[in-house]
Amino acid sequence: RRLLGTAGAAGAAGVLAGGAGGAAGYAAADPAPAALTSVGADAVAFHGTAAAPQQAGITTPAQAVAHLVAFDLAAGADRARAAALLRRWSRAAEAMTAGRAPDDDDQVALDAGPSSLTVTFGFGRSFFSRTGLTSRLPADFTPIPPFSSDALDPARGGGDLWIQIGADDPLVAFHALRVLQRAAAGTAAVRWQMNGFSRTPGATAKPRTVRNLMGQVDGTNNPKPADHDFRSALFVAGRPGGQAWMNGGSYAVVRRIRMLLDPWEQQPLARQEAVIGRRKSDGAPLSGGTESTPVDLDRMDRDGTLAVAGDAHIRVAAAQSNDGAKMLRRPFSFHDGFDPDGTPDAGLLFVAWQAAPLNGFIKVQRKLDSADALSRFIRHESSALFAVPPAARPGEYVGQGLLE
Ligand code: HEM
Repeated sequence: RRLLGTAGAAGAAGVLAGGAGGAAGYAAADPAPAALTSVGADAVAFHGTAAAPQQAGITTPAQAVAHLVAFDLAAGADRARAAALLRRWSRAAEAMTAGRAPDDDDQVALDAGPSSLTVTFGFGRSFFSRTGLTSRLPADFTPIPPFSSDALDPARGGGDLWIQIGADDPLVAFHALRVLQRAAAGTAAVRWQMNGFSRTPGATAKPRTVRNLMGQVDGTNNPKPADHDFRSALFVAGRPGGQAWMNGGSYAVVRRIRMLLDPWEQQPLARQEAVIGRRKSDGAPLSGGTESTPVDLDRMDRDGTLAVAGDAHIRVAAAQSNDGAKMLRRPFSFHDGFDPDGTPDAGLLFVAWQAAPLNGFIKVQRKLDSADALSRFIRHESSALFAVPPAARPGEYVGQGLLE
């Protein structure tokens, strides 16, 4: 690299050196080739700050690949063993998110850099009964009720513990998954695991809202950090008599939502846009303007009909339609191949974050369940809810406030 200014030329130098001097010459020319982009070098802090005490992976932009994995505690694994596991997991996550090798490394991601890796840990309700901690269950940790349109597979839902892994490099993400699974051996075993993806950084000319597998721009009307109620909608605030170990944490709702892509793709464009209430090309609301224009739910078209239809997804899901209920949607797409008849097994690994599920997902899904035009084109196939405590402070482990 000393000899050559650009990464593109470094490869040529390697070939030349190899030709002249064999393997030794090649190694001397460039033992550490320059990366072509900065993607691998980007790191997301594992620890929180006073202003942002939450774990990484909630407000972090969605990475290119994700693994969601739930674990159940082994028979006889008590609170002390669970605490030891969270300590091992936190230690490994802290190292890997900084681009360092964890203990007992398999070297899978040795030369990849942190690649914006985030590792986010959560507790399912069953964790509390398994570890004798039911007195520490927060009042807001209400179970998700059944909905009429559910088609849930219990084997792919629930779980004592949950980890969300995201990274901009697939090897880095898999490495983290495998390291954390090994660290759990004897204490907890995988209950279910799902793989998701989003855009690769740099794939679009300017960072823009991602598209889902139905082709829609998805995420436009998410809560924004500049909103006055952003933190209160997403993160648990301390209150007298509350469970202080969750202060600064959040609740994650995880649903595997299959998209019924064959019937969806048969709809004419105008129908697809009416179902959502936004233009497919650029995500602009059907009430007018551009993607970022606030939706006008009262706007009438010239023919006297509502510009955003009565059953449009964005009307039924809007905070105005649900007593102000809000959540941060941070989903990943999934594709697990095709059914024998060719039907794609693809859709959204829907992950929604809120300070209290009753004021977020549960309230909105109750309304969507009966009134959403999108329901005909999707199927909720699994469900889970996790209490995600705040980030560990330096020297501590995630969940220490609950488990110590
Ligand atoms: C908005 C797609 C499931 C809640 C949107 C938008 C799209 C979309 C394209 C408009 C752009 C935006 O603001 O992000 C989908 C798809 C789903 C799905 C394809 C399933 C596969 C859900 C579920 C919920 C939900 C299960 C919650 C229970 C919302 C909310 C908005 C929204 C709150 C913003 C509404 C507003 O205030 O404008 N969704 N969605 N979505 N969706 Fe979904």
